[in-house]
Amino acid sequence: MIINKTFEEIPLNQFVNCIKVDKYFMITQKDFDAICTLIERIHAEVIIEFGVQQGNTATAILDTFSYIREYIGIDVEKDYEPLCIFQKKEIPLDAGCFAKKDNRFRLIVKPRGTFDLTFRDMPVADFIFVDGDHSLQGIVHDTVLALATVKNDGIVCWHDYQNLSVVRETLKILSEKYCFNINIINDSNIAYSVVDFSNDKFKNLILSSNT
Ligand SMILES: C[S@@+](CC[C@H](N)C(=O)[O-])C[C@H]1O[C@@H](n2cnc3c(N)ncnc32)[C@H](O)[C@@H]1O
Repeated sequence: MIINKTFEEIPLNQFVNCIKVDKYFMITQKDFDAICTLIERIHAEVIIEFGVQQGNTATAILDTFSYIREYIGIDVEKDYEPLCIFQKKEIPLDAGCFAKKDNRFRLIVKPRGTFDLTFRDMPVADFIFVDGDHSLQGIVHDTVLALATVKNDGIVCWHDYQNLSVVRETLKILSEKYCFNINIINDSNIAYSVVDFSNDKFKNLILSSNT
């Protein structure tokens, strides 16, 4: 039985003031609108992004929502050898550089990024955007870490759900095993889960993890 919560309907056109993304962004306009809609739905004040890159998305989100109190961007050191070789070119020379001017932004760079972190290194978050390591190992690690770090009724949101089968398949296995719901937003690469700690299997996932 899947007992996590879902939103009945996510209208993507409610964001008249959504910032327009340009060619330098690593997400599409639909993806950005979907993320903003989810943030607005829960009035997320504390946000974490796994794989912040140069901070394009982070900056646009911070510029959209004045009520965000803290935005933590996480990335790897520039000489990191990613598990997926195609990700080597994505590693930023200056992680989070565009978002640093906003005093609500905090950067965490570790040699192996999220692999070097546990939930104890981060505040309890309202919303976590998972867009870092795209290997099977990375998706499993980041999913468990995100679910352990987000607050009850908070949202974990994954990028590349539609275009990367490894993301889809890994989330399918994890969500079936631990009974959390994966919701997709049509025409976007975004999937999300609303966290529900009353789910015992889900609690076991968190307790048994070393995150
Ligand atoms: C597709 S880019 C992210 C784009 C960014 N989220 C945005 O919207 O602008 C993937 C990022 O994940 C980072 N990354 C790869 N492995 C990581 C890890 N283990 N921990 C944290 N970040 C990682 C890469 O360095 C890169 O910056």
